[in-house]
Amino acid sequence: MLILGIESSCDETAAAVVEDGERVLSNVIASQVLTHEKYGGVVPELASREHLKKIALVVDEACRQARVRLPEIDALAVTEGPGLIGSLLVGLVYGKALAQALKKPLVGVNHLEGHIHSAWLENKMARHAGLCTEEARFPNVSLVVSGGHTSLFRVWMEVHPHTRTPVFYYRQLGQTRDDAAGEAFDKVAKLLALGYPGGPVIDKLARFGNPDAVPFGPIRMKGNLLDFSFSGLKTAVLYRLRGSELGAEAARRREWRNRVGRVSLEELRSQCSQETLDLIASFQEAVVTDLVERTLAAAKSSQVNSVFVAGGVACNSKLRERFQKVVKAAGLSVFFPSLLLSTDNAAMIAAAGYFKLLAGERADLSLTAHASFPLGVDQYEPIVVAR
Ligand code: KG4
Ligand code: ZN
Repeated sequence: MLILGIESSCDETAAAVVEDGERVLSNVIASQVLTHEKYGGVVPELASREHLKKIALVVDEACRQARVRLPEIDALAVTEGPGLIGSLLVGLVYGKALAQALKKPLVGVNHLEGHIHSAWLENKMARHAGLCTEEARFPNVSLVVSGGHTSLFRVWMEVHPHTRTPVFYYRQLGQTRDDAAGEAFDKVAKLLALGYPGGPVIDKLARFGNPDAVPFGPIRMKGNLLDFSFSGLKTAVLYRLRGSELGAEAARRREWRNRVGRVSLEELRSQCSQETLDLIASFQEAVVTDLVERTLAAAKSSQVNSVFVAGGVACNSKLRERFQKVVKAAGLSVFFPSLLLSTDNAAMIAAAGYFKLLAGERADLSLTAHASFPLGVDQYEPIVVAR
């Protein structure tokens, strides 16, 4: 079954053709980073306009790279939420119109479900290619960690009673109460005048700093042990800058960046004191430690032996390294998507949509976008610890 996936929930216009939910024939992503970088974050109105300009081109390119013509597509899968409403609507309406014109079935996919499937999709492709022998299994605990989300899910699979095909279930175990981890990376990078998006640049600069230099300490909260909170960490960085030489240095860097425009990593590093590099490394260390520890706690309490990590922050090299180390020591297996499948893409939407289509799910023209679109939240069961 050839599925055309369409994803436009935030600032990437993406289309992909995936065969049988496991062979990525094309995966085209038009990034809007140049549009938003001067604002230090995604501007929703500009994002919608960019999607409008790109959507048709991106879908055509996905078909061209997959060497399929649109009428040869068997079905379409589009992201229906969560995300920016104006952005979501562009991909969703385009997908609906295409499905109508081609007379092909359509399904809506939750963006978070797509991210979770990206780790499995990667594992299936790696096994086909003989690059990996270990099979990613269900049930598992999945951490979705991106610019918009930081959530833990227990994910399991059951066989559909009629179609005998796999159906996936999600129980949300925890989520961020304020900033998403990627948002914290982006905001701290903005405070330190490091550019946008902040995650990749912090990841690279942190290699030159001492992660133990600033004792941010563990992030503590009352209530659900599996919830996250990163806004306090961001504020702690802000306080270190206020009225200090570090803050004056960040102001000089901002002025320099505004003057010279785009800069290389080496140039940026040359404008960072060792103290700033230490602060960057310590901030990243605090985020990584928190993400890994809560995910391990979730795996333990859910009694699973497999962990999926997906979303843009899953690109972080320190996070990957720490998960590999800690999770192995705990006797668990961890699965990441490739970097290309970690950030927003449409292959993950097509892969998740495939199983919905197999189970007989079909969307009609009433399918609409949802800015807020919880995944399995009705089964929310917080694990509360007394502190
Ligand atoms: O999944 P994604 O492409 O979009 C959302 O659904 O949000 O994630 C984008 C986020 C941004 O906040 C970006 O800073 C972060 O992922 N990110 C990283 C890295 N690469 C991207 N964060 C930390 N380390 C990275 N290497
Ligand atoms: Zn995402």
